[in-house]
Amino acid sequence: MNVVVGIAGGIAAYKAVGVVRALVLAGHDVHVVPTEAALRFVGRPTLEAISRNPVHVDLYEGVAEVRHVAIGQAADLIVIAPATANTIAKLAAGLADDLLGNTVLASEAPLVVAPAMHTEMWRNAATQANIQTLVDRGVTVVGPAVGQLTGADSGPGRMEEPEVIVESALAAYGAHAAQGGHGAPGSGLAGDLQGRRVVVSAGGTREPLDPVRFLGNRSSGKQGVAIADAARSRGAEVVLIAANLEIADPHGCDIRKVSTTLELREAVLDTARGADLVVMAAAVADFRPATVSEGKIKKQPGDEGLTLELVRNPDILAELGHAPHDGTLLVGFAAETEADPERLIELGRAKRAAKGADLLVVNRVGWTEGFASDENRASVIGVDGEVVTELHGSKVSVAHGILDVVVSRWDDRFADPAATTPTATDTTTDADSASEDDTTR
Ligand code: PMT
Repeated sequence: MNVVVGIAGGIAAYKAVGVVRALVLAGHDVHVVPTEAALRFVGRPTLEAISRNPVHVDLYEGVAEVRHVAIGQAADLIVIAPATANTIAKLAAGLADDLLGNTVLASEAPLVVAPAMHTEMWRNAATQANIQTLVDRGVTVVGPAVGQLTGADSGPGRMEEPEVIVESALAAYGAHAAQGGHGAPGSGLAGDLQGRRVVVSAGGTREPLDPVRFLGNRSSGKQGVAIADAARSRGAEVVLIAANLEIADPHGCDIRKVSTTLELREAVLDTARGADLVVMAAAVADFRPATVSEGKIKKQPGDEGLTLELVRNPDILAELGHAPHDGTLLVGFAAETEADPERLIELGRAKRAAKGADLLVVNRVGWTEGFASDENRASVIGVDGEVVTELHGSKVSVAHGILDVVVSRWDDRFADPAATTPTATDTTTDADSASEDDTTR
């Protein structure tokens, strides 16, 4: 495939070399179009050596070959990494005052941008409006990630890691190709989730004890946001129910911010009706403090400990799963610390059945896996307890793998109109889900 990698002038330009290299190693013919400013951060010889192609930057070179449009016309995919605030503004305005701007305007290939800038610039209303314009035109926005920036500061604005950018870009190309390659980046690219309404919960709930403390968990929201983002990039209209995310909000989703389990439940029930797909990726507290103190809980002289009384939270997934939900495919997650792979699958099967989900994604969590990392390993379990697929890689690729299963389930139902949400084998229960849930069916 002919891939154009645009590089804008920011310090993250050095990481663009990794993007170019990964694409070349994957067998693609890569043409780099840096801006003049980008060449202040990374040299042309480096880009030519890594891309194995000449690198052009000047609009007035190669005029006889009509290069200002030829590069864009030949592209199957354009990836701009890093995309600075300035370049994003120019893309939104459709400016063509350099070779990169001309290349983008002259192309009908899917466009993927990976923003990188300081947090204040990212949050600026102008940048946000420009990004929204690009999203509305069907451009795929990857990141930015949250983390250490160039200086001592940190926050949203870091360019995503090269492998995440490459995976997202190839997925965007796949969605474009699935539509027969129709639709320029500006035309609202259709994918295999076009016309679908998808609700995704992400992050971790917090149950307050008093005005300063809460009971929470280590979910960052990365896996849920990756699913929301992947669904949006494949054409779905996405509601993201975001519980205390530790990463930047994705673009192009209707975001409902919540904190506690009760708030999450209200938002899910409010949006799930009539949805084609609900994915419960949030880590939800099973219990909350029986009372929330008005003031900060103080230790008293002589106190050796503190006993908290907790009460059970509603199980949102089970509530959805045990109510009729024909027409809504319900995907649950199971976060388990079980080390034995077979036992892990058994726990996933039991949890799927106990909660009445149509698919259940079981992933192992622990001190160093599952939560907060960029990678995940998961098995998707179907209603007959079968392991439909095993997924391993970045959370973005796991997200697309889950959506691939969802799409194939929809295709199966389409092929057999008699098929409804199956529940025939939903008879087992698991240790941490109330067995009475199953009797409500
Ligand atoms: O956010 P990251 O840092 O990327 O980490 C991702 C993740 C590990 C949080 C994610 O992949 C994951 O496993 N999410 C589910 C976490 C969880 O709550 O698992 P559980 O086994 O406790 O719950 C099972 C299912 O029931 C989940 O779909 C959960 O959303 C749902 N649930 C749980 C309790 C409850 N009261 N109501 C619910 O709906």
